[in-house]
Amino acid sequence: MTQTTLWRDAQLVTLTPAQGWGLVPDGALLTEGERLRWAGPLAELPAEWRASVAAEQGLDGALVTPGLIDCHTHLVYGGERSAEFELRLQGASYEEIARAGGGIRATVAATRAADEAQLARGAAARARALMAEGLTTLEVKSGYGLSLEQEAKCLRVARGLAGLGLSVRTTYLGAHALPPEFEGRQDDYVDAVCAWMPQLHQDGLIDAVDAFCERIAFTPAQTRRVFEAARRLNLPVKLHAEQLSDQGGAQLAAEFGALSCDHLEYLGEAGVRAMAAAGTVAVLLPGAYYFLRETQLPPMAALREAGVPIALATDHNPGSSPGLSLLLMLNMACTLFRMTPEEALRGLTVNAARALGLADRGRLAAGMRADFCVWDAAHPRELAYYFGRNPLRQTVAGGLPRA
Ligand code: NIG
Ligand code: FE
Repeated sequence: MTQTTLWRDAQLVTLTPAQGWGLVPDGALLTEGERLRWAGPLAELPAEWRASVAAEQGLDGALVTPGLIDCHTHLVYGGERSAEFELRLQGASYEEIARAGGGIRATVAATRAADEAQLARGAAARARALMAEGLTTLEVKSGYGLSLEQEAKCLRVARGLAGLGLSVRTTYLGAHALPPEFEGRQDDYVDAVCAWMPQLHQDGLIDAVDAFCERIAFTPAQTRRVFEAARRLNLPVKLHAEQLSDQGGAQLAAEFGALSCDHLEYLGEAGVRAMAAAGTVAVLLPGAYYFLRETQLPPMAALREAGVPIALATDHNPGSSPGLSLLLMLNMACTLFRMTPEEALRGLTVNAARALGLADRGRLAAGMRADFCVWDAAHPRELAYYFGRNPLRQTVAGGLPRA
């Protein structure tokens, strides 16, 4: 029989209502194996379930939220790009550095030069930093290998992070940049990206397909071909859209029923409408906005008005967002994007789950995965208020308390 544990004396932040925190004072959670069997006021726990409890844990009135979900990262890579940071501080733009052969392509060279064990060590250290602030589900994109073998290597490393006690989702981002061996042959490279996809899928290495649709990356027409290849395999798509300019990427992604469009600073009205109609999540990335010293804000009012679900993520990568703090993303989403603390927390939980196509997490309710965080805080808005302070007391992932 699966072990049941009662977690009591908690203030639950269930996020189950469509709006509001869904606070439950004197709350309790009943976990059964890796699932939540019940969540609510302790006084309402059915007597027969109480009788089935094998273990009890008191939480001293601490705040309990769903486990945090980072739905957009590029966590597996070699090297670092601090020299590029210095160049940007001296006035070079991200786009100029990319056009001069630096940027993503510099990381591709370092990633190709690293073996799987080296990449795994680097990625595990970064994943642990995220876990220290309550990460329970992590998405990792490829996109620094840019050949079948190298992309497979990076995706295997990403999948291996599950060994740390995390749920991991992997996204194939072969269409991230043009590798040097395809110089001048961009369409041939897109063909190759599409041709590698069935093999990677067959090897169980991908959950979704992403592309970078931008002046310095791939055109909407090329992105469409990548999405068509994904559709043939029944793989959901996502898009790096309208990060530096409005390419109409969001409309294209919505046409393919994309799980999410990410970045979106330059998203226009038509893109917002298309995303709303398709139920596509807007994944906002305040770390990249901040680190690239972007000044164009994502269209918050239009997204809200159209009812587009908004998620947040670190976008951790060595070029545009080297940060490893989910709590800082909560704070930045509020200070930079004027999100409310509640919108921000939904962005790292229920809406982040949706951006990954996962319906079984991100809220505290019966049937969900038993992924939750215990915080030394009296109110959930404190999670977005502090920065550089980590109030995490404990994480439970898949019903198991993390050491
Ligand atoms: O999400 N925009 C494209 N990809 C990454 C940056 C990758 C890099 O600079 O290495 C991003 O910002
Ligand atoms: Fe990204």
